[in-house]
Amino acid sequence: MSLKLYFLNGPNLNLLGEREPEIYGTATLSDLEKLANEAAQEEKAQLDFRQTNHEGELVDWVQEARDQAQALILNAAAYTHTSVALHDALKALTIPVVEVHLSNPSNRESFRKRNFVSPCANGVIAGFGPLGYRLGVSAAAALARQRS
Ligand code: DQA
Repeated sequence: MSLKLYFLNGPNLNLLGEREPEIYGTATLSDLEKLANEAAQEEKAQLDFRQTNHEGELVDWVQEARDQAQALILNAAAYTHTSVALHDALKALTIPVVEVHLSNPSNRESFRKRNFVSPCANGVIAGFGPLGYRLGVSAAAALARQRS
């Protein structure tokens, strides 16, 4: 059976390409989706790639991943630093979780050092820009395979 992976993106990531290019670069979310899909193809995995600006929707999708996916890749964007609801939803997962960020939040403003996702993640890929989207998919596929 082929692997099914969820790649969920949080708020403002729909603005990539226009938003703070000096930090996030010029690639759009659709460029990142292409990179993620290329990695999924190499892994012979199926990828469900989504973005939302709404915390509750992100929580719903994490819950959905519990029985629809074999691993979750998550760039929760600003909700990484604020969302107890997201933290609790992630705690309820039994599948591997790979946290991805384009930038490295730990070398930015101090409010980005608080992180509600990392304690629930198997690993973190941060600071590699668009490459992180490829690496995230490969890491999630490897972790999912180790389990099966
Ligand atoms: C981000 C880092 C977060 O701190 C920030 O709120 C984002 C993007 C990243 O991919 O670098 O929106 O998750």
